Formats: sequence, structure tokens, C-alpha cells
Amino acid sequence: MARVVVVGSGIAGLVAALRAAERHEVTVVTKGTIADGSTRYAQGGIAAAVFSDDSVAAHVADTLRAGAGLNVTAAVEALCGDGPQRVRELIALGVAFDRDGQGLARGLEAAHSSARVLHAGGDATGAEIERALDDAVRRAGIRVVTGAFLRDVLVSDGAASGVALRLADGTGTRLDADAVILATGGWGQLYAHTTNPAIATGDGVAAAWRAGALLADLEFTQFHPTALRLPSGDGGSRTFLVSEAVRGEGAVLRNARGERFMLDAHPDAELAPRDVVARAIAVEMAAQDGLPVVLDATALGADFLARRFPTIDAACRAAGIDWSRVPVPVTPAAHYAMGGVATDVHGRTSVPGLFAVGEVACTGAHGANRLASNSLLEGLVFAHRAADAIGAQWTDAPDWTDGPTVAAGSMPLEESDADRPFDRTLLQDVLWVGAGLHRDRAGLERAARALAALRMPEPGEDANLLQLGRLVVASALSREESRGAHFRSDFPLPADAVPHHTVLAPLPVPTE
Ligand code: FAD
Ligand code: SIN
Repeated sequence: MARVVVVGSGIAGLVAALRAAERHEVTVVTKGTIADGSTRYAQGGIAAAVFSDDSVAAHVADTLRAGAGLNVTAAVEALCGDGPQRVRELIALGVAFDRDGQGLARGLEAAHSSARVLHAGGDATGAEIERALDDAVRRAGIRVVTGAFLRDVLVSDGAASGVALRLADGTGTRLDADAVILATGGWGQLYAHTTNPAIATGDGVAAAWRAGALLADLEFTQFHPTALRLPSGDGGSRTFLVSEAVRGEGAVLRNARGERFMLDAHPDAELAPRDVVARAIAVEMAAQDGLPVVLDATALGADFLARRFPTIDAACRAAGIDWSRVPVPVTPAAHYAMGGVATDVHGRTSVPGLFAVGEVACTGAHGANRLASNSLLEGLVFAHRAADAIGAQWTDAPDWTDGPTVAAGSMPLEESDADRPFDRTLLQDVLWVGAGLHRDRAGLERAARALAALRMPEPGEDANLLQLGRLVVASALSREESRGAHFRSDFPLPADAVPHHTVLAPLPVPTE
């Protein structure tokens, strides 16, 4: 029996904990309350080939097509192949997916060739999954420490040996462990506009990097095309996701002239891959002085919208919009991190004993662009695999990719010439403008200089954001092509016949 620390309590962390607790002594640590991650906000659903007219092969093909050639095939096969069984286990655990007559209800989302998205509570899938997993963890008696912030992964003799934590009362402590599973979610808070909750500050990626783990493909952030954009009183903006499933049900996008601009942008129009829709929206917005485009769901009818999308319906109504009668203003927002801590199909990182699962990880399953509703599935599938991998007698090192890799350069752990006080809003604006939907060398270099000038704050979320922001910009500069979510206007086409992965390795601060 190994001592296992799981960091994070979204779908990836709780599934890892439940599975690992069947054989090991498990502690879950999480920086807020148990439900604070992205998981509980997931709307559209979870994709899996569970219907008789669908197949794992079709799900694999769709995932590869969306990923723009960068997917790691073994990871895609694991994701789609294990998916149906893991989803059946979720149902057995108590997740109440919506039903349609005798069977499960089926949702369609962009770039899926089949309606294979299971949802719960209409558009409250993540909340239902988080509820059921939370209940199961309580029933299993697994120790959960809330308000425990991961400061660092501890490494002894080249292997993970525990975690250093800051507790809610401000004191520090450490937990020794034979295996550490990072399940800390994504980094949407790097950007000025994001669908992600406040916890998404990339802590696990930054901590893994400080522990010496390889990071991969950090230039790939997915921008969701349709976040509700309402002018806020303070001149800023706030975003609330309007699920892709709304377009899956027939809603269309229109510009300020009322035209359906997606018809000219892609053969699949509103159901084109996310990066295509997001960039097309950005182009329309630029042409109309930054005004949001609108999502027109008026043809779907008030009853259907309220029944199928109760969460979005309530959010629109709270904002004073009756979306059954008027189109809603939407803009793209940072949504999902395809890159992260490089892992193999068992969640193993390059540091022995350190695993990464869910959004914090880069398994390569999503390639350059994630297919809708494949993220909850990734957390589910790879958390299960990582838990099973603990304590195995590995004879090989993790081989996380099946393609060529290019180093984006080794980065020092600290910058010495920074003279500007850290400012999170400034950092988010710098990333949004310089490393957002449209990138080029000049903009990325400006972003790199602006981030280099910021003084490193005390260890914590801000320090993690700054470290990660610098690494994201370095990765984006090094990829001189456009692929999936990474669009360089100075290199507008894909470059490599066999695309490469971008790998970052930390360069320790020299000791005197
Ligand atoms: P999270 O659920 O984000 O959990 C991370 C956990 O780590 C949290 O408990 C957090 O508190 C903890 N943590 C973070 N840092 C620290 C630290 N330093 N110390 C301790 N604990 C820490 N995907 C889909 O497949 N289908 C959808 O319909 C869908 N809809 C979405 C809608 C929205 C609005 C958003 C934001 C995302 C959506 N996604 C969807 C993406 C998906 O929800 C996430 O990718 C997924 O839930 C990530 O799960 P996770 O367990 O990896 O991380
Ligand atoms: C959505 O409901 O549009 C989000 C789905 C996802 O991110 O996979």
C-alpha cells in the first residue's frame, strides 16, 4: 500500500482518489472547497461512444481531425477506447445523465460526426458529476483537506516524495508520499477574458516545472467562441459560457449587419472546429469596432431553451436578456489548456512518482485543438489509468509522445532584471493581446518583454501565473506555424508534414 497525495478535487482528482483508494492510502488536498474547480461549470457534457450507431473508431477519427495532426495517437485511442466503460462506471456511481424515453439523451457538438455527448440537468453536467463524485469520496471515507494550497512538489533523489502546502490559517506543512497525482486544472486566469473559475491559475503546471518535469505544447490554449459578453458597470467585461450545444441544437451566429458570417468561413458553419469559429468571430468583431457578434437562438423557442439549457437560460434572464426573443452578445474567451505537464498514457510525468491527470496534463490526446466534451472524459479516463499505475514496477521511462519534439529553449527559474511591481490585470491583458487568438512575432516579443519586466511575487498563484505566462509566450514564439488553436498571422499555414511537440525543460538557477 502506497501513500498517495492527490492535489485537486475536480473530476480528475476525485476519480484518481476513488480508484487509488481501492489499493492505497489516499489524501486529497485542494486549495478551496471541494467543488471549486472547472468541473462543476461544465455545461455541454461528456463525449463517449456509448450508442450502438456510434463507434470508438469514429470518436477517434473526430478527435484526430479536431487536433490538427498534433494528437498523440496512443492517447487518443486510450481516451476514446476506455471512455465508454468509464462513463458506464460513472452512471453506476450515481451520475444522473439526462434520459430520452428509455435511453440516454444525446447531444451534438461541433466537429462530432455523431450525437455522442451525454449531459445532465440539461446544461449542468459538470455540477452533477462533481456532486456524485463528492458523495462517493465521502462514502469511501477518503481524507480530504480543503483550503490547502500546493506550494511545491517535493523531490528527493530525483523522485516525487510529497508536497509542501500552505494551509487556510496561513501556516505551512508538508505531506510525505510515495506518489503525487497533480489534478489542478487549467490556466484560464492567464487571460483577460476566460470562462474559467478563479482557481484556474496554472499552479500544478508551474509546480511541476519547478520540480523538474517536462512541460509540453504550452502554446495551445483553446478559446471558446461563445462567452456571453455584457458590459459591466466598471468598464470591464464578464464572461459566462454559452454552450456549444446551443449551436448544436441549431442556434446561429450573426454579425452587426445580421449576416450569418460562418456560412462563408467554413463548410460546417457554426459547427466548425472551435478555433475556426473563435477566430472568425474575432475577425467580425474587429470589422465592427470591437462590438460582440450575436448568437441567435430565437428559433429554438422559449420552452425548449428553458428545458434544455436551464443554467444559460437563468444567466441570460438574470442579465435582463430574453434569449428566446433577442440574440445574445457573445465573444471568444480562454477556455481550456491543451498543453501542460507532459505525461504518457498512464499519467506518468518525467519525474518518477509524479503523475498529472486532467487539464493540468498534456497527454497529447487533444493535439492542437480539443474536441468539445472530450475534457471531462480525459479527466475520467486518465485519472483511472494513473491510479492503476501507482506502484507498478516500470521497466521503461514514460514515453509521452509518438512524434518529433522541439525544445522551446531552457528557461531560468528566476529573472533578475525585472523592475516593475507585479500586476495580475496587466499580465492578463498582455497575454490576451500578445498571445491570444491572433499572434505574430512582434506581438509575442512585446509580451515577452512586458512579462520579463514584472517582478516575481511571493510564491503563490500570482507567481505561478507569471512563471507560466513567460513559458506560454516562449512556446508560442518558438512555433513558427499555425496549427489548431495556435494562429500566427506571420506564419499562417501549418509548417511540418509531421508536426512537432514543443517541450520545455527547466534550467535550475546556478548555485554559487
Ligand atoms: P478542475 O475541475 O479545474 O479541478 C482543479 C482542482 O485543483 C480544483 O479542485 C482546484 O481547487 C484544485 N487546485 C488548483 N490549484 C491548486 C493548488 N495550488 N493547490 C491545491 N489545489 C489546487 N469540458 C467538457 O468535457 N465538457 C463540457 O461541457 C465542458 N464545459 C465547460 C464549461 C466551462 C464554463 C468550463 C470552464 C470548462 C468546461 N469544460 C468542459 C472543461 C472541463 O470542465 C475541464 O477541463 C475539466 O473539468 C477539468 O477537470 P480537472 O479535474 O482537470 O480540473
Ligand atoms: C460547451 O458546453 O460548449 C463546453 C464544452 C467543452 O468545453 O467541451
